[in-house]
Parts: sequence; structure tokens; C-alpha cells
Amino acid sequence: MKAPVRVAVTGAAGQIGYSLLFRIASGEMLGKDQPVILQLLDLPQAQTAVKGVMMELEDCAFPLLAGMVATDDPEVAFKDVQVALLVGARPRSKGMERKDLLTANAEIFTVQGAALNKVADRNVKVLVVGNPANTNAYIAMKSAPDLNPKNFTAMLRLDHNRALSQLAAKTGKPVAAIEKLAVWGNHSPTMYADYRFATIDGQSVKDMINDHEWNRDVFLPTVGKRGAAIIEARGLSSAASAANAAIDHIRDWVLGTNGKWVTMGIPSDGSYGIPKDVMFGFPVTCENGEYKMVEGLEIDQFSRDCINVTLNELEEERAGVAHLLG
Ligand code: NAD
Ligand code: LMR
Repeated sequence: MKAPVRVAVTGAAGQIGYSLLFRIASGEMLGKDQPVILQLLDLPQAQTAVKGVMMELEDCAFPLLAGMVATDDPEVAFKDVQVALLVGARPRSKGMERKDLLTANAEIFTVQGAALNKVADRNVKVLVVGNPANTNAYIAMKSAPDLNPKNFTAMLRLDHNRALSQLAAKTGKPVAAIEKLAVWGNHSPTMYADYRFATIDGQSVKDMINDHEWNRDVFLPTVGKRGAAIIEARGLSSAASAANAAIDHIRDWVLGTNGKWVTMGIPSDGSYGIPKDVMFGFPVTCENGEYKMVEGLEIDQFSRDCINVTLNELEEERAGVAHLLG
């Protein structure tokens, strides 16, 4: 039996938490042979609800669930964790843009970044889901100077999965057949889902679709505004699909992608003209617990324009929180 991995989940009493925890405990994230200890963080007023979720987790009798901790103290939740899913934040409600959430949530991520810096495992893999995810991940990274910045990531995988589904519907092919999709930039309507390199059974998806207007006027707005469409329809932001994307992100990072491209929000190393440290969606492959950016892709003018829009938004967000980072 492997030694258990300590996994922190913040916002454990929330709707994403409720879709996420049971799948982590059942082995869908780290493997069917990997025991886990769940370290659950939420606000003081949510502790009773967290206890309820823990009772349900117990009642599943998951063989891989080796322990659970509930707390409102980040330094307890993050103690020795090897994986940290930072979900807890204020979600967007009808009519709100992600930017409105910026300052409300920025403070949470300075505190949590500092706590990770102090008590987490030195190789902790951090995924920020709470919005605005890229900027929150940037704040957490900057608040944790003793940890490797590469270990802080933001969730673009939901955008990636949304784009895959739209492309599968358009081409009439199974999602699993689509390779080499990339999503650039911010987890927001400005993200640029780019299928210029994508293939299905070796054939170019761009050639199969061959419709620039569909790309610009239908595909990109559909993927970009999907979060708002779900809020409009459900009255609540996406939860099960977000939890699913978080599972995909960490599973691929830890267990590898076998050469397949996936999208992760990672601190830029300066590639593709994205300034160093900007937390940006890039195509990556994962192997041996590390991600590697897909390099050397050609960026045409349409793509450069789209990338600049999402980069400008991220730079504005970054400027908006600069005062909090000292
Ligand atoms: P929710 O309101 O149902 O749950 C949030 C939970 O976080 C609550 O239990 C709340 O008490 C807790 N919380 C708030 N502040 C906290 C703090 N400082 N420390 C610990 N816990 C705290 O929200 P949800 O639907 O689960 O969504 C969570 C976040 O995920 C939101 O920011 C939402 O916008 C975001 N989200 C991101 C993506 C993505 O693709 N990146 C997708 C969907 C939702
Ligand atoms: C989503 O994309 O579904 C989430 O980020 C929720 C939101 O606010 O759009």
C-alpha cells in the first residue's frame, strides 16, 4: 500500500467542493491505488456544513480515504500537503464580471499563499479554481516566495474541455479523438481557444471545419461565455464540470498525459511574448509530475490579436492587485 497523499481543498462546504471531494476520495484524481488524507478548509460559519460533508464521505466507506481534517485555519489545512486545490472564494452572481471579484478575493489568496509557504510540502502542487483564477494563482505564487513558482497553476481546463465538446459537436467526432487543442490566456470570456493545430485521426480540425466566421462568431463566444450561460440557466455557477476539470488538471499533472496536449494556467517563462510570471493558459504536456510548455507554435495575426486581448486583461488584473503584494 502506498503512503497517503495529503490533499487540501478550500471551500470544502461549497458546491464545487461537493462535486470534488467524493471523486478525490474514490481515487479518480491520484489513482485507484493511492490513499489520500483530505484537509478541508472553509470559513468558521461553514464548519457545520463541512462536518456534514465529512459524514457523507465516511458513509461512502472509500477504501482510499485514509483520514480527514476540517478547519478554518489555513496553516492547519495546508500542513504538509502535496496537493492543494484552492476553490474557496466568492463566486460570481448574475450580472457580475470576474473583475468585480478581484479585490474581494485577492486578500484570501495572499493569506493562503503565505500559509502554503510556511507549512506545505516543499513540492506542493497548487491549483487555483476560485475566480479570478489566474490572478488569484498569481497572488498566491507571489505570496509564497520559498516555494517553486512553477508549482502554482490556475484552472483553464474547464475552458479546454468546453472547447473540446464544441469541436466534437461541430465535426461529429468523439471528444476523445481530438488532439492538440490549446487555450491561451485568462479563464474569462477573453480566453482564446485555438484549434489551428488540433487533429482528429491525424486530420486537421481547422481544415475539416474550414470556417473562420464560425470560429470567430460562434465557437469563441460560446466557449468564452459558457460560464455566464450556465449562471443564467442554473442561477448558480458551474460546479460539477468545474470539479471535473480540477480532477483532470491534477490527474494529468501528477500521472502524465502520454504526450497529449492539455491546457494549464502556468506562470509564463517569457515564451510567446507573454511577460514572465503572468499566469497564462498555455498548451502543455505532463510527464513525471512536471508540466512542459508546448514550444515553437506559429502565432498568426488573428491569434496574436486574440492573445493580446486576454493578456491585456490579465495585465490589468495584475495592476489592480499590485498594491496588495507590497
Ligand atoms: P460556493 O459559494 O458554493 O462555495 C465557496 C465556498 O468557499 C463556501 O463554502 C465558502 O464558505 C468558502 N470560502 C469563502 N471564502 C473562503 C476562504 N477565505 N477560505 C476558505 N473557504 C472560503 O462556490 P463554488 O460554486 O464552489 O465556487 C467556488 C469558486 O470557484 C468561485 O470563485 C467560482 O467563481 C470559481 N469557479 C471557477 C471555475 C474555473 O474554471 N476556474 C469554474 C467554476 C467556478
Ligand atoms: C465558469 O467558467 O463556469 C466559472 O468561472 C464561473 C463563472 O463565473 O463564469
